[in-house]
Amino acid sequence: MKIKKFRRFEQPFFGVIQILHRCMYKCKMCNMWLGKETPEEITIEQAMDFSTKLGEIARKDFEFNILGGETLMKKDLEKLIPHVNSLGMRPIVSTNGYLISKEKSQSLYDSGLVHFTMSLDSLRPKIHDFYRGFKGSFDHVRKALTNLHSVYQGKQFVCIVAIIMKHNYKELLELANWVKNDPRVCSISFLALTNPCWTFDKNWHEHKSSKELWPNKSDYPKLSKMIDELIKFKQKNDHLIVNSIEQFEAFKEYYKNGPQNPITYNYNKFKGYVMVKSDGVLSMAAEKLGNIKKDDIRDLWFSKTAEEARKKIESKNTSVEIIINCKHGFEAY
Ligand SMILES: C[S@@+](CC[C@H](N)C(=O)[O-])C[C@H]1O[C@@H](n2cnc3c(N)ncnc32)[C@H](O)[C@@H]1O
Ligand code: SF4
Repeated sequence: MKIKKFRRFEQPFFGVIQILHRCMYKCKMCNMWLGKETPEEITIEQAMDFSTKLGEIARKDFEFNILGGETLMKKDLEKLIPHVNSLGMRPIVSTNGYLISKEKSQSLYDSGLVHFTMSLDSLRPKIHDFYRGFKGSFDHVRKALTNLHSVYQGKQFVCIVAIIMKHNYKELLELANWVKNDPRVCSISFLALTNPCWTFDKNWHEHKSSKELWPNKSDYPKLSKMIDELIKFKQKNDHLIVNSIEQFEAFKEYYKNGPQNPITYNYNKFKGYVMVKSDGVLSMAAEKLGNIKKDDIRDLWFSKTAEEARKKIESKNTSVEIIINCKHGFEAY
């Protein structure tokens, strides 16, 4: 295929593929566990075929985040990993840790997977278990980290991921310090809370169902100070915190003004953000382009629909909730 020349900010540079919409946990901030296995769910073969096409137009250092639902519930995930590696892209698997036994660690190791993100919202088991809606989920993270470490012998790259919420925001710095001192993990990434989809109202964060999730207005000054502490921590330990300072500044604005408002940051880079949902729907950031089951990203990315999507993103006429956690959109281009 003859690849067209990309204009600035057009080339895909970061992508997520949601390979299933099912989970064994019942998180308070996520509705994926309501999903069932359906014929619409993309197969590993479809994900592989999509990766091949994406590989032709993606930037060389493309990071491909494979997630779910609970990603490790997907049968044959181990087939997708070497394929993505062979295309020169970097596969990263996101997990809650529940299924990472020694045996699973070994099969992931054998597949060539090196990069993980693992969710841990609090160092207090009660708080993590509360948010994950699953007793013992904290303990599963602990065991998963130990199992990976014993199989990978320290050659695993595990990035801890914590969502900033009402009952954990005071301990974010503590989490960062824990990451610094635990040899089983290598970095931490913070996420802003987005709509858990219990309500389609734009003001979901003010609903009763968000009461334990979104910080109160009165929490904001302390939350903002905490983010400033993380910025200082990052300035001293750059490699440990994945978020850029620009993204932290955007988080402050997002929590202050609410998730329904655009942020003052330039949106151009988010035009390189590829998203695939478990039913195959392909988007550029929040803007739908087609479906990987019937469309070819090599055509879609240069289509009229894509041009319109770029205009919407550029003019900020798009969902802030989709872009706020796209860390690469906040990095130097
Ligand atoms: C959907 S999960 C899939 C992977 C895996 N099941 C897990 O929990 O890590 C991917 C990431 O999204 C985060 N997440 C879930 N609900 C969220 C929300 N409402 N806002 C922001 N991040 C959320 C999770 O904590 C996790 O780090
Ligand atoms: S955040 Fe992850 S662990 Fe929690 S319900 Fe969603 S997919 Fe499952």
